[in-house]
Amino acid sequence: MSQNRDGFTSTFGVLVATLGSAVGLGNIWKFPYLTGTNGGASFLVVYLLATLLVALPVMMTEIMLGRASRANAVTAFEKLAPKNQKFWTVIGYMGLVSAILILAFYTGVAGWVFAYIFKSLSGSIHSTDPATAKAAFDAMVSNPMQALFWQWVVLGGAGVIIMLGVSKGIEAVAKKLMPLLFLLLVLLCIRSLTLPGAMAGVEFLFAPDFSKITAPVVLTAVGLAFFKLSIGMGTMLTYGSYFRQEQNIPATATRVMLADLSVSMLAGLAIFPAVFAFGFEPSAGPSLVFMTIPAVFASMPLGNVFMAIFFVLAAIAATGAILSILEVPVAMMSERFGFSRKLATLISVGIIGLFGVPAMLSSSLTADWKLFGLNAFDLFDFISSNILLPLGGILICLFVGWVYGLPQLKKQLSNEGQLNNGLLINAVFVLVRYVTPIIITVIMLRGLGLF
Ligand code: PHE
Repeated sequence: MSQNRDGFTSTFGVLVATLGSAVGLGNIWKFPYLTGTNGGASFLVVYLLATLLVALPVMMTEIMLGRASRANAVTAFEKLAPKNQKFWTVIGYMGLVSAILILAFYTGVAGWVFAYIFKSLSGSIHSTDPATAKAAFDAMVSNPMQALFWQWVVLGGAGVIIMLGVSKGIEAVAKKLMPLLFLLLVLLCIRSLTLPGAMAGVEFLFAPDFSKITAPVVLTAVGLAFFKLSIGMGTMLTYGSYFRQEQNIPATATRVMLADLSVSMLAGLAIFPAVFAFGFEPSAGPSLVFMTIPAVFASMPLGNVFMAIFFVLAAIAATGAILSILEVPVAMMSERFGFSRKLATLISVGIIGLFGVPAMLSSSLTADWKLFGLNAFDLFDFISSNILLPLGGILICLFVGWVYGLPQLKKQLSNEGQLNNGLLINAVFVLVRYVTPIIITVIMLRGLGLF
């Protein structure tokens, strides 16, 4: 099968496509809003620790499992686990569930971004006034037809791109536009940081108040670290399966992590100074970015034009991430059930669209549909980020640490001895065998209030 699989065509292409999966609404939308609702700087500290100690080793090993098996997330464990241990394929199936739950709300938020492109051009969100910004956002999300229409535009578009295939579709889109997004974020930061009263936002982001750290906050930080690096559900495994044999996996993972982190930090520095300068609420939740970013643009010359460009780039970043998530069910269905990529895409998009309805109507028709006090939008997010991804992470660690083993890990991560990174591999092994799974387990039990 492996010789027929499509794959990335250059080392740089691999880096950019992986980055295209990692950088998305997680950086621009979720990171700022969760930092805002969970206490600012102290949350950032926990998030950084979670990324280094928990997420990075999982990322390296997950990519490695993909490249070693050259298969989708279910088949990978079938190939790599001993014959009598097929239960490891559960990791792949959990990933399938995560992919559907995440896309049910993620494509909707991407839809909001698309809608905001047009709103920027029409001037209707050109304001620094918190009440006006909130009214504009609420009007959009509480209108059922608007919310669903944009989600379907996004889902349809992503489906078409996926049908074109891996290297052509994903690489081409991701390669060109990431640097531009980066530049525009830098511009936003400069404007935001030079607003009168901006320093209160900097303080919020960098002066930690550790009393704000609770068990659920820590679990949220871990979940965010997984979500942002696209790990724990087979996305990175699937991408790893398209990696070139000579790609340096630990180096690629580290670079992607650092780049992903810098985009988030830029987003934080673009948003929080403005939040305090204009009197927004840092704990506004999912609406935070959609209210604050327009305010920053409204306070610079040619704001409407730059704002439209910003939302176009954010939409493209979101699309890169969406494509990587969609690739999980599509690769799985086409390789395991022999469906054509086209049929697999259509089925996936259909199921996601179905789950998307209650998620996107959470501010209107289905606002009262609640489970554990969460509406469908928040519930899908909670189950995927705070339960399924960390659980997937634990299982990946246990598989690599106790079943796959050090000799194989060494062989894979050193590219059969060509890379001189033995020390690093030993450290990764100790982490995934003992440290990371224990940390995640404790955090999950405490964060979910089970212990
Ligand atoms: N990492 C992406 C983002 O930050 C989202 C994502 C989650 C992508 C899970 C793939 C898998 O936007």
